[in-house]
Amino acid sequence: MFGLKILLVLLFLFKANCENNLHRYPYLVAIYNYINKNDIEICASTLINSKWIITSNTCYEKLRNGSSDNLKLEVTRVHDLSQIKLSPHRKLKMAIPHSDYKNLNYSIANDIALGMTNTQFLINPRILPVILTGNELNVENSSCSFIYWNVSLPYQIDSKEMPLVSVDIEILSLKYCKKQFNYKLVYSYGQICVRSVNSVIPENHPGGPLMCNNVQVAFFSSQHKSNGEMLMTFTKIHPYQKFITEVIPSLTFFKIKGGDHIWKGVFLFSKANSCSSLYKMILACMVGIQIIYNMY
Ligand SMILES: *[C@@H]1O[C@H](CO)[C@@H](O)[C@H](O)[C@H]1NC(C)=O
Ligand SMILES: *[C@@H]1O[C@H](CO)[C@@H](O)[C@H](O)[C@H]1NC(C)=O
Ligand SMILES: *[C@@H]1O[C@H](CO)[C@@H](O)[C@H](O)[C@H]1NC(C)=O
Ligand SMILES: *[C@@H]1O[C@H](CO)[C@@H](O)[C@H](O)[C@H]1NC(C)=O
Repeated sequence: MFGLKILLVLLFLFKANCENNLHRYPYLVAIYNYINKNDIEICASTLINSKWIITSNTCYEKLRNGSSDNLKLEVTRVHDLSQIKLSPHRKLKMAIPHSDYKNLNYSIANDIALGMTNTQFLINPRILPVILTGNELNVENSSCSFIYWNVSLPYQIDSKEMPLVSVDIEILSLKYCKKQFNYKLVYSYGQICVRSVNSVIPENHPGGPLMCNNVQVAFFSSQHKSNGEMLMTFTKIHPYQKFITEVIPSLTFFKIKGGDHIWKGVFLFSKANSCSSLYKMILACMVGIQIIYNMY
């Protein structure tokens, strides 16, 4: 029994460490560009393997600001944006936008770009690629959240802590969203329309992932306001599986079937998993050990 108590203490420490900032979003990176000494433009992006990241092409275009020189863009793994200057960074070596990307009034089509860093990220429990799925998930009733830095852009680097935040997101029907805009808002292939449940997301903010049960389903593309309501458009990832695997043939898309609870079970045992799921797995094992212990 004593051993079990020690294990519980260790588990508690592990959980505390899990919840400590950097571990919370191990797949999230920032792509950024200095406008001047203290102001930066940023896109949130996610690691999809040790070298490749995925982001919205609109955000990437904004970072490039008309230049064709990718090498000025930097990529870093940072949780608190005020630490961005101190955080080890890599160069963006190459960026590949979707060839049918179009940014028209009230509509952005194929808003996706892949980027490659000049050196690899060392994959460890703090830095992990995000989980992508190759099939359509029924996300309507699952708990989804949007991860971003709660700042207006460009961001002026100061000493005030600026951690990543996560807000609950409600997925809406395209019909509802179009109606809000008098049908002016045109949705393109692979897009979803969402609303933040109880938070105001600053305009012009960095793109970031839409996570549903630890799986990245989409990323932020644009936002529009009508009748006092702010609606956001996200680009789904799975419809672009072909585009992504043409660029990165070795990339794994997980096949996940079923509703909310079924995929939770799958993720407990996925190797590319977040710290908190690992915690849940250890806890589940311990409960198992406890039951067996009590039986004998
Ligand atoms: C974008 O480029 C223009 C012209 O090169 C420059 O005046 C402007 O300051 C740049 N904007 C940013 C955000 O870097
Ligand atoms: C985009 O829409 C705005 C507002 O309706 C309009 O003023 C502007 O001219 C449009 N631009 C283009 C390129 O259609
Ligand atoms: C989502 O939940 C609502 C209410 O519980 C239910 O009516 C609806 O059918 C569910 N949608 C899906 C796609 O499961
Ligand atoms: C974002 O910042 C605003 C204003 O600083 C604040 O009211 C809001 O609660 C913040 N949102 C989150 C999710 O932290």
